Amino acid sequence: MALDLHAASFGDAAEAYARGRPSYPAEAVAWAVPAAARRVLDLGAGTGKLTRVLLDAGFQVDAVEPSAQMRDQLAVSAGQASLFEGTGESIPLPDASVDAAVCAQAWHWVDPARAVPEVARVLGPGGTLALIWNIRDHDEPWVAALDDVLHRHTRQEIDTAPPIGGPFEEPERAEFRWRHPLNRDSLLDMVASRSYVILLPEPQRRALFDSVLGLLDRHGVGDEFEMPYLTRCTRARLR
Ligand SMILES: C[S@@+](CC[C@H](N)C(=O)[O-])C[C@H]1O[C@@H](n2cnc3c(N)ncnc32)[C@H](O)[C@@H]1O
Repeated sequence: MALDLHAASFGDAAEAYARGRPSYPAEAVAWAVPAAARRVLDLGAGTGKLTRVLLDAGFQVDAVEPSAQMRDQLAVSAGQASLFEGTGESIPLPDASVDAAVCAQAWHWVDPARAVPEVARVLGPGGTLALIWNIRDHDEPWVAALDDVLHRHTRQEIDTAPPIGGPFEEPERAEFRWRHPLNRDSLLDMVASRSYVILLPEPQRRALFDSVLGLLDRHGVGDEFEMPYLTRCTRARLR
């Protein structure tokens, strides 16, 4: 029940999500999606961060997303994609209709026991499923300190190298390092778009923002800076 509440919370912060969350590096997407693929499913597509990269790489994209507010943002940022209301457990696409499926920063919200066979159903023969997460790189002390502050309220343990199983071959893994330019306002948008922050009462959310800004001051981080990210990818082919 708690998980459903968090999973459904994103829509309330869809604009902050679009402003503050990072995209994905093109090299990671090139690794995750076979170049020969034509039609690609973006599962849990949110505001279209990954959808945009898939479109720019030349794929035809079917974007599936449960939240209406997130879909509204996606229609603006990635309007060339075909957009569907749906979930990983119930994908509104015909059997064998896509060459590849990608799920960025969303697989931890699905029930894999139902989503794995459902993704396999919509994939054509030999199709691939890729899972992608952006993780802040703690090699920089201020980033480690930031995550300490963010995790003070809740620590969501996410397995970013999960098994896939079912009808898929053994997964392969890869990581990509990159840096996302931010300023203080967009960092606060990133914080505001986290599911547990969306659900915090306003005084606690304000206190959290103040802690984040205080931390930047203490670490000498200016108004404009770069967030170091590690993009962790998993891909597996249908047997
Ligand atoms: C952290 S966001 C990631 C959005 C986008 N893929 C990105 O990379 O920016 C997680 C998304 O998963 C969606 N979501 C939640 N439960 C889901 C489910 N069961 N199946 C598919 N998507 C789900 C949320 O509505 C939200 O848009």
